[in-house]
Amino acid sequence: MTSPEWPNHGGQADALLERFGLPGDHVVDDVSANLNPLGPPEWVSGWLADRLGGLGHYPEPSYATARHAIAAHQGLHPDQVLLTNGGAEAIFLAAAHHAGKRAAVLAPSFGEYARACAAHRLQLTEIPLCAPSFALDQATLLGRAADAEVVFLCRPNNPTGTLIESRVIQALLAATLARGTQVVVDEAFIDMTLGAEALTPLLSRYPSLILLRSMTKFYTLPGLRLGYVLASSAVIEALARHQPPWSVNHLAAELVKPLLEDHAFADHTHAWLATEQPRMYQALLALGLDVVPSTTCFFLVRPGEAQRRRGLDSARLFERLLRVGILARHTHGFVGLEGEWLRLALRDEAGNTRLLEGLHDCLR
Ligand SMILES: Cc1ncc(COP(=O)(O)O)c(C=O)c1O
Repeated sequence: MTSPEWPNHGGQADALLERFGLPGDHVVDDVSANLNPLGPPEWVSGWLADRLGGLGHYPEPSYATARHAIAAHQGLHPDQVLLTNGGAEAIFLAAAHHAGKRAAVLAPSFGEYARACAAHRLQLTEIPLCAPSFALDQATLLGRAADAEVVFLCRPNNPTGTLIESRVIQALLAATLARGTQVVVDEAFIDMTLGAEALTPLLSRYPSLILLRSMTKFYTLPGLRLGYVLASSAVIEALARHQPPWSVNHLAAELVKPLLEDHAFADHTHAWLATEQPRMYQALLALGLDVVPSTTCFFLVRPGEAQRRRGLDSARLFERLLRVGILARHTHGFVGLEGEWLRLALRDEAGNTRLLEGLHDCLR
């Protein structure tokens, strides 16, 4: 359980400043929320302003335009796509579809799987990921999933940034297909991940595979909310029955096609990631921190052994960083971490350099 003083998502600087007795106007660089620092694309605010007139109408029934755009982008049929109000709604729809069943989830992982499972009365088993690598091997996954009717995986995993290999997921799908186990893979950060093999080709072979996606992260639109599910048409139809009508607002739904057509923004983001991700991994290691080998746009870190021996733990480091104006993501409330680690999101080049300088000062 999250202790009441610690907010259970990133951001929420106000609550944390108050907790540490800092004034509300204390300026912070927020590295606690995992969002693309390059977005939203510049044209989005003007585009939205031009379409405010559309708020007088209901959104398009079944979101055909957005679903066709996503299907074309992913090489799938539009019947295999469900548009959702962010990746979060996709998680809750997947849980609703499997209400009352036995589920397995990674630990540590994104807390909304457990919340969605509790809301829909699923019984949870944990698949533990162990420090310091938090790697998941095939034998552990298959063993822990043996009893589950639905397995929730996060790829790359939040908060560790580790990537379950495609061959391990294939092994799980192959081993569990006959007994009808559903495999839900949340790929909210897959567009900001290095070296990830696509799982979409597996959808035609494994009707038990359900992929959840967020467009909120990549396009930096957490306030607008956009996500989608990719699965067999039968599963999409079943999930849609749990979705409230007009769940995705008109503006968000209309925005899908132009977002996916903005190749310049996608290319710019991928170029940033390819440079800044490995640079930051090496630089964080060079500071003497323990750094989990992340493949994506955030890193799970803690003071290294020598730093811990000097009495510097993650709680101290969190506070020192906040005092110098850097808001890290605490890990209270993540099962298996309990505050022992901190999560740091990648920023643009200048922001990353400021983060390294701040860390350097706070680790002394
Ligand atoms: C792993 C994971 N899945 C889904 C979500 C929710 O994404 P969205 O903001 O699109 O609802 C988050 C948000 O932090 C996340 O970390």
